[in-house]
Amino acid sequence: MIYQDTPEFADSLDAQDELKAFRAEFLIPQHEGRDAIYLCGNSLGLQPKSAVKYIASQLTSWKELAVEGWFHGDDPWLQFHHQLKQPLSNLGGAKIEEITVMNSLTVNLHLLLVSFYKPTTKKYKILMEGGAFPSDQYAIESQVNFHGFDPKNAVIELFPREGELTLRTEDIISAIEQNADELALVLFSGVNYYTGQFFDIEAITEAAHEANVYAGFDLAHAAGNVPLELHNWKVDFACWCSYKYMNSGPGGISGIFVHEKHFDNKELKRFAGWWGYRPDKRFLMAPGFDPAKGAEGWQVSTSPILLMAVHKAALDIFQKAGGLGKLRAKSLFLTGYLEYLIKEINRKQGEELFTIITPSDLNARGCQLSIVCKRDGKAIFNYLAQHGVIGDWREPDVIRLSPVPLYNSFKDVYEAAKHLAGAI
Ligand SMILES: Cc1ncc(COP(=O)(O)O)c(C=O)c1O
Repeated sequence: MIYQDTPEFADSLDAQDELKAFRAEFLIPQHEGRDAIYLCGNSLGLQPKSAVKYIASQLTSWKELAVEGWFHGDDPWLQFHHQLKQPLSNLGGAKIEEITVMNSLTVNLHLLLVSFYKPTTKKYKILMEGGAFPSDQYAIESQVNFHGFDPKNAVIELFPREGELTLRTEDIISAIEQNADELALVLFSGVNYYTGQFFDIEAITEAAHEANVYAGFDLAHAAGNVPLELHNWKVDFACWCSYKYMNSGPGGISGIFVHEKHFDNKELKRFAGWWGYRPDKRFLMAPGFDPAKGAEGWQVSTSPILLMAVHKAALDIFQKAGGLGKLRAKSLFLTGYLEYLIKEINRKQGEELFTIITPSDLNARGCQLSIVCKRDGKAIFNYLAQHGVIGDWREPDVIRLSPVPLYNSFKDVYEAAKHLAGAI
């Protein structure tokens, strides 16, 4: 696409946008009497207008049915999570039984590590990307410690080559090969939170399997953002949160994926709870844990129905949009337009004031661009906020801006770039 740096061009792209009606499904924060330019879906996605109705409906069931709500009403709560699995399996490229929703992200990462990090004295190391989200680093370090190993030696963090900003897939693969004898697990994010790099999940998984180890992924920044084929890529396990690109509210419920090849593997340990018990026998309250088949067997606690209700509100919108296909196509143009406009600012200034560290390869990124400010980054970020452009700031010098195809317009992107230029 040949982009143009004019408001008319942005308007014309919006006019042609098949998905533009979806913006009206969301509540957009206001700035000085008009819609803010919200480019922060990588952190907290906007609230679907329908969320209130979906929660209210469960509050009504609670009011009218009380405990009977678990078994009766339009959406008996015992079965409620099943409604979320179809849309999530579409977004994740998974079989329905490979998915479930439960807990929060870091909690789920721990639960999955209990099963899939099985260190021995010889093979105990975990390979992960350097600069992973801190919660993942803490989770890994504490798991390694828990098993009696020293994270300094047991955690291998992989950084980009000298002078490069993101990791090369070939380097990830060769690190897996080189460390194969000592590795117990490869754990990566799908999209790195800081750089916005979308990793080659399939290639990483294949290399991990060649090395005879499991491959797991934290998809916090990937789910609802980039196309995923978790089943076909043979990923062993994954988890994600729903509050970013899946618009399911602050601290919203998390999802997990466990590949079906592990369903009958009795060697996988797990931290069990009654909600993971096979559903047909759960209420017999018998001693001895007998897991439900599939990802559900990793569930621990009673379903948080109000969180699931918001999640359903958001996932119904994804279903209405036909899944990720058209959304991804629009996303590539939206983010591409932002990239073009930022480069135009640099060109007009005759200086690279803003360096985009997110890969320019469309297959290696999602919505987000991470922009390193050459100088006065924090002041530039504050200027954007004062002018109603909501992104986020990551120390020491990065502004993250993420146009989201469900609710952002090309005009949002155009105006954000004008304010970025104005900030100079
Ligand atoms: C990659 C990644 N992992 C983990 C987390 C933490 O998730 P939670 O606080 O929901 O456990 C986040 C939050 O933004 C994240 O981006």
